[in-house]
Amino acid sequence: MSSYTYKIHHLPTSDATLLPFLAGKFASLRLSALTVSATAFSSTFEIESAFTSSQWINRLKRPLVHTFVAVAYGAGTPPEQQTIDAGDWIGSATLLGPFPKEMYELKESGGPVIGNDEVETRWQMTAVYNSPAHRGKGIAKMLISGASEYAALQSGQGRSTRIRIMIHPNNVVVKKLYYDLGFVDAGSTTLAEAYFSNGDTDLLPPDGGASDPGKYHLRAGLIMEKVF
Ligand SMILES: CC(C)(COP(=O)(O)OP(=O)(O)OC[C@H]1O[C@@H](n2cnc3c(N)ncnc32)[C@H](O)[C@@H]1OP(=O)(O)O)[C@@H](O)C(=O)NCCC(=O)NCCS
Repeated sequence: MSSYTYKIHHLPTSDATLLPFLAGKFASLRLSALTVSATAFSSTFEIESAFTSSQWINRLKRPLVHTFVAVAYGAGTPPEQQTIDAGDWIGSATLLGPFPKEMYELKESGGPVIGNDEVETRWQMTAVYNSPAHRGKGIAKMLISGASEYAALQSGQGRSTRIRIMIHPNNVVVKKLYYDLGFVDAGSTTLAEAYFSNGDTDLLPPDGGASDPGKYHLRAGLIMEKVF
């Protein structure tokens, strides 16, 4: 039996007293993700370790950004004590959206046709991470499912929900993880498009990547999506 109980929380940004504390916990988790799994992310420890406390807070408060955190509690922790400010923060995922069609659509991606705003809401999932000590226990699946449930709730009745991720084609672990959750191949992306879609445009060089098209404009990234 696991010695932990795991719970997914949607990080609240509205409580101005609590937010600096939560942002501090998030910064530690994120910096450890950028150290442990450096190759999995576009950003780097060097970039993010320079962020100030208020930058971390502002990043969490960006419009259309929803942060989900996996928290580990000692087995036997009563449900009422399984709050976001307690326990060990072990994993996280970021959900961006909902996006209007014209902001979301990548016309050259070779993906399926995107529906109009009346029929669906559109989201982008990024920065999924779980710490090594807790891997293989379904935590990433819980994070993705938690974020998906939130997105579906925002869609309301009568609209479907489209969630997209962009991954390195060699990342077989992540590919299988999303396949198992019902995601299917949905075209390909350039690194410049991925930065734009993941809210990381500040990672693009000032020339938009024009001087290194092989890196920024090659359609080498895999897009997967789920519409439900
Ligand atoms: C990818 C990652 C988030 C998976 O986290 P996790 O909590 O271990 O994932 P889960 O336990 O929910 O596993 C889901 C599936 O992933 C696969 N998986 C997880 N760890 C694996 C491993 N070490 N080897 C092979 N497959 C693995 C399995 O297919 C598993 O499905 P199963 O239920 O059939 O076993 C985690 O390994 C991680 O943080 N990696 C570094 C960051 C990263 O690559 N993020 C993705 C960026 S797009």
